[in-house]
Amino acid sequence: MDDCVVHAEVTNLTTPGQCRWHAIADLTALRHKVLDAILDSATLAIQQRGQFHLVLSGGETPREIYRQLRAAHSDWSAWHIYFSDERCLPPTDTNRNSRMAAEAWLDHVPIPTAQLHIIPGELGASQASRVYTETLRTVGMFDLVLLGLGEDGHTASLFPDHEWGSALDSPDTLAVFNAPKPPPQRVSLSAVRLSRSRQVIFLVAGESKHEAVAEWRNGKNIPARAIAPAAGVDVLVESALLSRISE
Ligand code: 6PG
Repeated sequence: MDDCVVHAEVTNLTTPGQCRWHAIADLTALRHKVLDAILDSATLAIQQRGQFHLVLSGGETPREIYRQLRAAHSDWSAWHIYFSDERCLPPTDTNRNSRMAAEAWLDHVPIPTAQLHIIPGELGASQASRVYTETLRTVGMFDLVLLGLGEDGHTASLFPDHEWGSALDSPDTLAVFNAPKPPPQRVSLSAVRLSRSRQVIFLVAGESKHEAVAEWRNGKNIPARAIAPAAGVDVLVESALLSRISE
């Protein structure tokens, strides 16, 4: 098991489906590494292409990282923000992923509003999914996708026993009903669209993720495994979750 820093150079790797596990001492260190990885990725993308296309994860784990991004120095005018998924709730509901990211970070930096691509979850799953598919129609490869891992192995709003959109001809977004994690209606980017990224980083912290990590590492077909970009994925995980597996 490598305990290593995530470098932006992972974009050069070409083994599809490769999963690199990074054991990180604790949550504070994990946050630092992800923060550095985001800023490295932004610098590289802006240098090479003049734009940085970043997909944000929902959930609680990234909140503090988003807060720390407020103080970062970058050319914010080059950032384009997307969401991996959204909960179908009113825009101001504090459980909205877009609200969380706005309060923690996006309301505090000068990214042009037109470059903040929010999933309109308030329209309900079907319509919001249609609207966001249109939003993504002209968007090419993402530069970086951030994802979380749920206790049941879900990522974004791709849940066990639901459609994950892994087939190559899958739509970019999926309307999700009867989600096991509230609220029941959600919109998710499909696995195939999340995989169209130069870099994908999973953030995994908290004792409750122990079983999902074990299942993923033991080869079980959980939703997180469906994210398979050409460059592979980097999973940053609290080392306690890995050491218990080998006990
Ligand atoms: C959501 C998500 C979801 C989340 C994981 C991890 O909207 O709920 O995007 O996939 O990232 O459930 O959530 P935590 O970071 O809160 O553990």
